[in-house]
Amino acid sequence: MTEQLDTLLNEARRFPPSPEFAARAQATAATYAEARADRLRFWADRAAELEWSTPWHTVLEWDPPHAKWFTGGTLNASVNCLDRHARGAKRNQAALLWEGEPGDRRVITYWELFREVGRAANALRALGVQRGDRVAIYLPMIPEAAIAMLACARIGAIHSVVFGGFSPESLSDRINDSKVKVLITADAGYRRGQVIPLKRNSDKALETTPSIEHVVVVQRRPGSSGDEAFAEMREGRDHWWHRLMQDAPLSCEPETMDAEDVLFILYTSGTTGKPKGIVHTTGGYLTGVAATTRMVFDLKDEDVFWCTADIGWVTGHSYLVYGPLANGATCMMYEGAPDWPEKDRFWDICERHGVTILYTAPTAIRAFMKWGDEYPAKHDLSRLRLLGSVGEPINPEAWMWYREHIGGNRCPIVDTWWQTETGAIVISPLPGITSTKPGSATKALPGHSADLLDSLGKRIDVGGGLLALTKPFPSMLRTIWGDDARYVETYFSKWPGRPDLYFPGDGAKRDSDGYFWILGRVDDVLNVAGHRIGTMEVESALVEHPAVAEAAVVGKSHELKGQAIAAFVTLRDKSKQSPALRDELKEFVAKKIGALARPDDILFSADLPKTRSGKIMRRLLRDIAEGRALGDVTTLADPNVVASLRDQYEDKEG
Ligand code: WT7
Repeated sequence: MTEQLDTLLNEARRFPPSPEFAARAQATAATYAEARADRLRFWADRAAELEWSTPWHTVLEWDPPHAKWFTGGTLNASVNCLDRHARGAKRNQAALLWEGEPGDRRVITYWELFREVGRAANALRALGVQRGDRVAIYLPMIPEAAIAMLACARIGAIHSVVFGGFSPESLSDRINDSKVKVLITADAGYRRGQVIPLKRNSDKALETTPSIEHVVVVQRRPGSSGDEAFAEMREGRDHWWHRLMQDAPLSCEPETMDAEDVLFILYTSGTTGKPKGIVHTTGGYLTGVAATTRMVFDLKDEDVFWCTADIGWVTGHSYLVYGPLANGATCMMYEGAPDWPEKDRFWDICERHGVTILYTAPTAIRAFMKWGDEYPAKHDLSRLRLLGSVGEPINPEAWMWYREHIGGNRCPIVDTWWQTETGAIVISPLPGITSTKPGSATKALPGHSADLLDSLGKRIDVGGGLLALTKPFPSMLRTIWGDDARYVETYFSKWPGRPDLYFPGDGAKRDSDGYFWILGRVDDVLNVAGHRIGTMEVESALVEHPAVAEAAVVGKSHELKGQAIAAFVTLRDKSKQSPALRDELKEFVAKKIGALARPDDILFSADLPKTRSGKIMRRLLRDIAEGRALGDVTTLADPNVVASLRDQYEDKEG
């Protein structure tokens, strides 16, 4: 961390907004002043930009660490994203510009989206889905994913989207945790030309999910029996989406929801093996995402906004669906991989659809850099006017490349820091106001308050420390589904006696201009290609394999992914170790959790470095995985263990 700090301290480049951009920007210096003068009033004004059925009576009820926003108010999220626009001048404007990986395309106007969501909502109601029921969505990046989310919102059902790359076991865990009644999936999706058999995965997951009553299947790819993605339909339980839609009426009376009613649950990794069901509510979440989409992305009517994140992650929820649609924006949505069929697919899409705002992840930017400048250079990217980054720290080199090769040295870059838990962007530049520095997410947005503290809660003006969010805000998670104690413990117990301080789990640095430089996780959570994975999750998966006695997982830096997974494994029977078993274990983890959790390195070891009290010293394992000098080894029970591990790691023979 010190090494990182030093390099960042030397970053002297500054990029002030151009006068032309600033002159037309949505957010101005007055926006900060307004929020500083009266924070609650600022958020109430943002909430008032939504359409409410009943006005709220109280802006904030704060009983640390539990907050309620806009109590007494009622609204419906789908009405805010659709009806408002379908009734007015945006009726014929494109809401979604969609492109499938194989090259199929659809344009869906606000009127059409409104109609499709109404139909889908009626179809779900006809299956018995009621207000408060949970619906899981396990779909590829097709318009039906957004339609399904909004259809749930319309009838007050709580959606729980599960990323299509997750394994059957991960899906069934998530279904069981919140007792989901209906699953919406597809026969298949496409990724790098491969067919992903989602219905087959679902059937596997559904062997252990007693709460599921119905399954709705979108037909992405009409197949035939024997086909790898052929969907067997179980009589009574499974229904084709298109059949249900045919019979469903268009118009669906929206459910009137309380501001604090749950809109969705989204699972994310933590420091234990069990993913946390992050709970977001209707009024506060929608206020936060609608306001930040407009402020941070400077959204205008003529924009084409492309957030490349999958709908299975919070970025897809907030900046592909709810935030842009609440603002009546036109969104690009793409199903597949950036290098399919060629490494210029993104730039081809940007050119063809005239994308003006692009929001993507550092891991993707680093891959583009590596593939070469010639791919973006082949395309006319002159429509782009703003670039965004999210998911992990962006290194200054990648930031500069993004600015030059994608942004033509003309587009401001917003490096946005936030989390599944915060629901919306918290720390970010505002284009048109903030002078950016490559690698810094800059400062907290208007209405937010972030600080840097040491472990005792003392403020650090300049230097490194722990990031803290010090004031509640509308889009903040309300609890963890079914486990409020874990909510309190995980997020609000870092600084004893201060249940009002939220700890996001990130370390950061603050420079003399008060800019934040996020350094990454300080807990046992990895950030692999912009996605959080708990070391415990991977360890639990490994020890389920019959050959494994004990496992310790750490992160190591990776050129493209930011972090990669290194696993140290002790076998029950040492003589079984072999390259084949190593591959088998990697595959085992990928099958259990999903391909994103596949370890890059597995090292077999007779012992793991432990303290005398038996705690695994991950710090030393990290040193070994990174090939660094070993830190303090004096508390080790057996110092010989690390020396032999290091030798083995270096020749990777295990
Ligand atoms: C973690 C949250 C926010 C949506 C995508 C990830 C890291 C996120 C940044 C950024 C440095 C970042 C943090 C955070 N992170 N954005 N701009 N700079 N780090 O959501 O899976 O909930 O992960 O991602 O470590 O805690 P998530």
